[in-house]
This record gives sequence, C-alpha cells and structure tokens, in this order.
Amino acid sequence: MEKTFLMVKPDAVQRGLIGTIIARFESKGFKLLAGKLMTISDTLVQKHYAEHQGKPFYADLVSFMTSGPVFAMVWEGEDIIQIARLMMGPTDPKKALPGTIRGDFATRMNRNVIHGSDSAESASREIGLFFDNSELIDW
Ligand code: GTP
Ligand code: MG
Repeated sequence: MEKTFLMVKPDAVQRGLIGTIIARFESKGFKLLAGKLMTISDTLVQKHYAEHQGKPFYADLVSFMTSGPVFAMVWEGEDIIQIARLMMGPTDPKKALPGTIRGDFATRMNRNVIHGSDSAESASREIGLFFDNSELIDW
C-alpha cells in the first residue's frame, strides 16, 4: 500500500490546527501509521527541502520551518500521494480552492499550513529523514 509523508507546519501547529488536519485524512479513509510533534534542526530542513536550495525564498523557508514545532506524520492508503496533494491544494493559497486545506486555512505562500510528498521517491526519502522504520505502526 502506498505511503506518504505529511507535516503540519509551524504556522498551523501554532494556530491549533493539528487535529483538524488529521481529521481530514482520517475522514477520507487514510490510515495514520506514525505521528510526532517535534522541533526540527536547520540541517534536517535543509535535507528535506534540498531541491529548493539557492532559490530566493529558501532562507525564509528554513527559518519558518524551524520557528516552532511541526507535527510529522506517515499516512497510508491507495493513491495517497496524489490524493493528499489534491486535498492540500496548490502551494500558493491564492490558487487553492475552498474545500482544500490550503484553500480553507491559508492565505500566504510562505505560511501554507501543510507539507505533503510530491512523488513516491520523495515520500520514501522524506519518511526516512523523519522516522525510524520501528516508529511506523503496522495495523
Ligand atoms: P511543500 O509541500 O511544503 O513541499 O510545498 P509544495 O510541494 O506545494 O511546494 P514546493 O515544494 O515547490 O515549495 C516548498 C515550499 O516553499 C512551499 O510550501 C512554500 O512555502 C515555499 N515556496 C515555494 N515557492 C515559493 C515562492 O515562490 N515564494 C515563496 N515565498 N515561497 C515559496
Ligand atoms: Mg514540495
């Protein structure tokens, strides 16, 4: 079964949206395999967002992601990578329709509430960065 890495970003943790975001994926029918509240180091964010190194928004992205705790999760389900991205909505909340997570809870690109893996390769890489295999519950 397909797995993805989802992360409630510091803005949404601060705003008390962890439960609301988890509820969306539970209601959809996906299965939570692991989840933890954690603060992340510069090194971990830099590895996680390595593809964006050198872009104009990179420094702001790193400082935002380390500004407070995140809630990191592994979820499982059929076609979950693609469906979770649809449920999140586009990166830019101005383009995200109501009904999507970013459409309902975000207004700004650099405070866009949630991260989700964009491919199977990203998902397995990101799950490995944030979790030990032993932390994933088989149920
Ligand atoms: P993630 O799920 O967080 O990876 O978002 P994404 O896959 O929808 O977008 P992408 O990986 O391209 O960018 C990662 C993050 O960098 C985004 O979520 C934004 O917060 C930020 N970002 C991307 N592009 C821009 C941009 O043009 N301007 C600004 N300010 N931030 C950007
Ligand atoms: Mg991305």
